[in-house]
Amino acid sequence: LSRGSAVPDLAGRHVVISAGGTREPLDPVRYLGNRSSGKQGYALARTAVARGARTTLIGANTALPDPAGADVLRVGTALELREAVRKAAADADVVVMAAAVADFRPAEYATGKIKKKDGQEPAPLVLVRNPDILAEVSAGRARAGQLVVGFAAETDDVLANGRHKLRRKGCDLLVVNEVGEDKTFGSEENEAVVLGADGSETAVPYGPKEVLADVVWDLVAARLG
Ligand code: CTP
Ligand code: CA
Repeated sequence: LSRGSAVPDLAGRHVVISAGGTREPLDPVRYLGNRSSGKQGYALARTAVARGARTTLIGANTALPDPAGADVLRVGTALELREAVRKAAADADVVVMAAAVADFRPAEYATGKIKKKDGQEPAPLVLVRNPDILAEVSAGRARAGQLVVGFAAETDDVLANGRHKLRRKGCDLLVVNEVGEDKTFGSEENEAVVLGADGSETAVPYGPKEVLADVVWDLVAARLG
């Protein structure tokens, strides 16, 4: 499919896409976060709209223009993202977790700014696990036939780790990016392999994030009942 002349093969479908990266607050001025820009998730939303889907985009700390025609929700933390995804997924045909979810959050939130103390080293930071939203959505499909798509960024043994992660998460498709050097973070382009729970393997050469998004929708459309 070329851009701008998309076939409306997702018409009548509701797709939910998370994008960006969660931020887990330590105190009113600090957080634990990650480097996800949200560009791949926004490209998925733009292409979904172009292919006729009712599109819900859940942006976690993104600073990108709202895609025309998508319903855009905003969240900050992993727990907020989990609630928003759970609600939106209730009547979704497809859920795509493109957001980078912080694996851990500070066990305690300081309501006042944490201050240095003269001559003292800082107290160790205690973290707790965040829920695995993708695994939860996959395990508790809100609808029969609902498709769930995950993303993974790997630095080593990309395919083996990807296969393992796909099984662990229980999703239908996993888009695996190789990261390192300047690859992926904040860039306009992406290179990936899309692994299917059915054993399929689709390589997407380095190129615009819209092209990868359209490959994901091609694979989704072929799997929707
Ligand atoms: N994900 C999620 N909830 C989490 C962590 C990850 O929903 N708490 C989703 C991401 O949105 C992504 C996929 O799971 O679609 C894979 O994320 P990744 O960080 O690669 O997986 P992890 O299970 O956290 O494994 P790792 O230890 O390699 O970070
Ligand atoms: Ca992780």
